[in-house]
Amino acid sequence: MRDGLSADVIDIWIWNLEEASASQLPNLARTLTARELDAAARFVHERDRRRYVAGRSGLRQIVGSYLGIEPKRLNLSYNAYGKPRIAASNGSMLHFNLSHCGGMAALAVSSCYQVGIDIEVVRPLKEGNVSRFLSPKEQMTLTALPAGEYRRAFYSVWTRKEAFVKAIGVGLSFPLDAFDVTVGDGLPPRLERLDADGNRPADWSLFDLQIPSPFVGTLAALTGGRPVSLNYRDENAQFFMSSAHPERNDWPPHQNDGNQAGLS
Ligand SMILES: CC(C)(COP(=O)(O)OP(=O)(O)OC[C@H]1O[C@@H](n2cnc3c(N)ncnc32)[C@H](O)[C@@H]1OP(=O)(O)O)[C@@H](O)C(=O)NCCC(=O)NCCS
Repeated sequence: MRDGLSADVIDIWIWNLEEASASQLPNLARTLTARELDAAARFVHERDRRRYVAGRSGLRQIVGSYLGIEPKRLNLSYNAYGKPRIAASNGSMLHFNLSHCGGMAALAVSSCYQVGIDIEVVRPLKEGNVSRFLSPKEQMTLTALPAGEYRRAFYSVWTRKEAFVKAIGVGLSFPLDAFDVTVGDGLPPRLERLDADGNRPADWSLFDLQIPSPFVGTLAALTGGRPVSLNYRDENAQFFMSSAHPERNDWPPHQNDGNQAGLS
């Protein structure tokens, strides 16, 4: 691995997906595969397409940099629920997970532990809409909080739950009432109960992410209870913009490019 990452540290990368200018996007798109360009082409709204390209390119550049692999040559494979991982052909066990929301992206990278990450924007909630996302215990604890804390606490719980199901890799197909996480700022993020997984709650480590308001976020890692710390990488969006073939400046990519898949 070119950029060493020790087992007891999980790197966190957070970047703004809106910082890529229209003129930089073609360079970012050069780092994507045909499948990813095809996915980008299917977005109805240009803003969503840009965000997707900036997110995927960032993922490829960052993960590729750990392995010394050119972003576009990073081979990803997917489990049955769509979780990407590094394909066996790249011969690495590096773990990573991406989340994007409201124009921000967060990526967790670990040399050792299965990870899941989730970020959300704290938005107004629709009355009665939250119960299907939470376990009965979480709902009860949330409802008992002062009204002014409710909304942020809900999103915080939600990212704890989603980071966990993303770490497992099955996403929202995992029954959300089969586990409890801690609720509210008074308690550290933690799994309190876990019914439907081979691991014990104590095998999982949860961390609240340091991310600017109005975002909240959680990292979940299957650490087996071993101590780990988060390392926030401060190479920001410029890292992505400068390293993605700056000499190329055409968007969408030409039809005869190897990685082209119908962007028009
Ligand atoms: C994974 C899931 C929870 C993501 O929810 P979200 O809040 O909309 O998205 P986030 O921004 O946090 O995460 C998206 C990223 O997580 C990763 N991801 C995708 N599926 C994943 C999964 N099952 N587990 C973990 N990570 C996953 C991808 O990198 C994705 O990025 P992309 O959208 O650029 O491809 C949700 O999409 C889900 O439950 N998926 C499973 C769907 C399923 O069961 N599919 C079966 C048939 S494919």
